[in-house]
Amino acid sequence: MRMVDLIEKKRDGLELSTEEINYIIEGYTNGSIPDYQMSALTMAIFYKGMTEKERADLTMAMAESGDQIDLSEIEGIKVDKHSTGGVGDTTTLVVGPLVAAVGVPVAKMSGRGLGHTGGTVDKLESVEGFHVEIENLEFIDLVNRNKIAVIGQSGNLTPADKKLYALRDVTATVDSIPLIASSIMSKKIAAGADAIVLDVKTGAGAFMKTLEDSKELAKAMVRIGNNVGRKTMAVISDMSQPLGYAIGNALEVREAIDTLKGEGPKDLTELSLTLGSHMVYLAGKAESLSEAREKLERAIKDGSALEKMKVFLSAQGGDASIVDNPDRLPKASYIHELEAKEDGFVSEIVADEVGTAAMVLGAGRATKESEIDLAVGIILKKKIGDKVQKGESLAAIHSNFENVEEVKEMLYRSIKLSDTAKEKPTLIYGEIT
Ligand code: URA
Ligand code: CA
Repeated sequence: MRMVDLIEKKRDGLELSTEEINYIIEGYTNGSIPDYQMSALTMAIFYKGMTEKERADLTMAMAESGDQIDLSEIEGIKVDKHSTGGVGDTTTLVVGPLVAAVGVPVAKMSGRGLGHTGGTVDKLESVEGFHVEIENLEFIDLVNRNKIAVIGQSGNLTPADKKLYALRDVTATVDSIPLIASSIMSKKIAAGADAIVLDVKTGAGAFMKTLEDSKELAKAMVRIGNNVGRKTMAVISDMSQPLGYAIGNALEVREAIDTLKGEGPKDLTELSLTLGSHMVYLAGKAESLSEAREKLERAIKDGSALEKMKVFLSAQGGDASIVDNPDRLPKASYIHELEAKEDGFVSEIVADEVGTAAMVLGAGRATKESEIDLAVGIILKKKIGDKVQKGESLAAIHSNFENVEEVKEMLYRSIKLSDTAKEKPTLIYGEIT
């Protein structure tokens, strides 16, 4: 087989076979296919697309390019949840203990990640002593015993995707639905999921800005999952403004605890119950979505979800007393209120910019080497549609700097007020199965 012939084939809009896709991914991973040929191929894919069969083949070839986690020793159907990313998205911290409380095994592999706030692992590390550096055997044992554990990301998960994503980034070929969908799905499959619930975000703060594109990405991922034997469904949810009120690591842990107590923000609670219900249903722990939801609501009411959070944290060395005593979480030295300069209604909260403001405070990493300040971040006091009076707080800035003028300016620019009331945005735009 010659790579040049395969590039030509895709250039002319023909379908690549399973063997050809395997040849490409193996060759690119081991270095025998050079970047310049791979970039020509990705550009051809960008223009000609990929058939359903090609997408499934590409996903599996990438999933098999490195370590794959074997979760077969865990009893039950392992359902993973994946979010395409947003600002202040605390759902994993809520949904994990919540579905575990009703018996769904949660075997989560998580990373730190770049961006506005840390990844799930960073957030959890704001709990004193908590760590994810555990052996595979212990990980599996913990899930069997407690129904939930989190392990740090293997350095050799889907190396083909890592290399390809870096190449796409510098060749203007990131924005291709088949490539994005295969990239995301390959990582979920390598991480051992039997079934997958996707939370595809839409809006200004999301990777996909329009509902149209979000739906298309969701459909593409759902088709891939089902074609490779993993039951997959997607929820399309709003990211026109940050989810919940908290953006920041320890602040989000606290918000998750509030939500598990039944005292969380409405949007975060609703989205967690929706995603959680689908997970419970796919795991075979309920006959219907409504039964799944009832179970989850009960787990919040009777305290078992909160109890599960404690068990989970202490099993991995964490100080579970923060659950009853969130004041013991890391705290910033200063809380600066962002006072409204006029009366009005909140008409827009540009999620990206609020996220960047949190990063400037130190809540997120700009580069892999940056240190994160787990205590800092932003608590929104108002969301879109809320009425505001001059002098009222729009947000609290939790900072370890005395001077936060730059951050205040950023937030004033991103939280927009209007004279007339604006409707609250839809939270859930649809489900794709
Ligand atoms: N996120 C991914 O993991 N892969 C892509 O290609 C795009 C976004
Ligand atoms: Ca939040």
